[in-house]
Amino acid sequence: MKPMLQIALDNTSLQDALKTLEGGVAQGVDIIEAGTLLICAEGVGVVEKLRRLYPAKPLVADFKIADAGKVLGGLIAEKGPDYMTVICAADNGTKAAVKAQADARGATVQIELYGRWELEDMKAWKELGITHVIYHRSRDAAGGWSQTDVACVRALCSMGMAVTVTGGVGYEELELFAGLPIFAVICGRSLRDAADPGAEVQRMKERIDQLWG
Ligand code: 5RP
Repeated sequence: MKPMLQIALDNTSLQDALKTLEGGVAQGVDIIEAGTLLICAEGVGVVEKLRRLYPAKPLVADFKIADAGKVLGGLIAEKGPDYMTVICAADNGTKAAVKAQADARGATVQIELYGRWELEDMKAWKELGITHVIYHRSRDAAGGWSQTDVACVRALCSMGMAVTVTGGVGYEELELFAGLPIFAVICGRSLRDAADPGAEVQRMKERIDQLWG
């Protein structure tokens, strides 16, 4: 399975996010993400605006819901994303409530893996019907991607989870995951801050094609 390329719009204004999507970026990526920073800056309505502007493009609302799953899950789901995120530390009751809201509107829940979580947690999450996880290296964590991270990603894949990777991922990091059945690679700064984001999207896509065949 070849990973999809997802752009994280962690811009702090919608105007800036829409500029990021110019120059072939929106057309070149497989998935657009309304990033946590953008949702915090502009409100959840930004998800609906992106939905209207890009009706055919898979859309992620990365709000990393931590509590009040029914209310927050409902507020996000009604904006029409294809995927919506919940943080791993949330109570399983919250995850179930978010999933119910997502299911009612045809969206899929993804669990963001940060900080403390165990491979064992996958069993309970699968029982909730959640099979998507995002392996996330925090932008505030020291160092870069390590073989320990890659081993964890491999273990999650082998447990049958749909695994997305993110957190400081750019062209150079793609090789670390070569051949693993990864669902998507999320790139934020490496695409947004590129001199020519449209060209960088194409370079990343070509590298994915090379590495995954
Ligand atoms: C931050 C996020 C980011 O969207 C994700 O980590 C991608 O950003 P970058 O590639 O800039 O690290 O979820 O909470």
